Amino acid sequence: KASLPLAGRHILVTAGPTHEPIDPVRYIANRSSGKQGFAIAGALAMLGGRVTLVSGPVDLITPAGVDRIDIETAREMATAVDNALPADAAVMVAAVADWRTEAAAETKIKKAEDQTAPTLTLTENPDILATLARSDKRPRLLVGFAAETNDVLAHAETKRARKGADWIIANDVSGDVMGGDRNRVHIVTGNGVESWDDQPKDVVAMRIAERIAAALKED
Ligand code: C5P
Repeated sequence: KASLPLAGRHILVTAGPTHEPIDPVRYIANRSSGKQGFAIAGALAMLGGRVTLVSGPVDLITPAGVDRIDIETAREMATAVDNALPADAAVMVAAVADWRTEAAAETKIKKAEDQTAPTLTLTENPDILATLARSDKRPRLLVGFAAETNDVLAHAETKRARKGADWIIANDVSGDVMGGDRNRVHIVTGNGVESWDDQPKDVVAMRIAERIAAALKED
């Protein structure tokens, strides 16, 4: 095991959606199966890394050798990420809900007799990636994801700068990537963009893991 490229490294991965409760039976969420994040966590472990996977609610089996922490909300994810530090690298694959309800109702919201719909007041969730980028516990290599439906590369470049990530891995989710087993990604780094062909998510994951191992070897 000591000869594996990620031996002795700790890598943090976030995956899946977050669920933001509206009331005990309803929630706000992003569409995310968690498949790509789980595959990345598994590939990093196969390369010998100690992997902490902070996962939102998904229906997936924990990959071999991965330490999994289950959370539900963005704020719980932020706390779990913070508790898992320090890490040599972090790969933030989770589709975190940008907003949560200001206050979740303690009991199920009932339909009104006069059929007026309830008004939800939303408030912004913490940006876990951007916060980590600016923290004094920032991992040496910080990788973000960007799921876009249009102008994928332009949005990814902007996101890399705005979030303070080293790499942004962008995917075009206008097709059937969501929940599917294949992905087409673009790796946006300080040295430009590399676009990969459409491949199975576990192949994408292993190539990303190998690239992370190479980057951590450099410095
Ligand atoms: O801004 P956007 O949600 O598109 O950014 C996507 C990237 O930022 C992903 O890496 C995602 O995991 C991360 N993110 C986060 N916390 C948020 C929102 C996004 O860590 N609140």
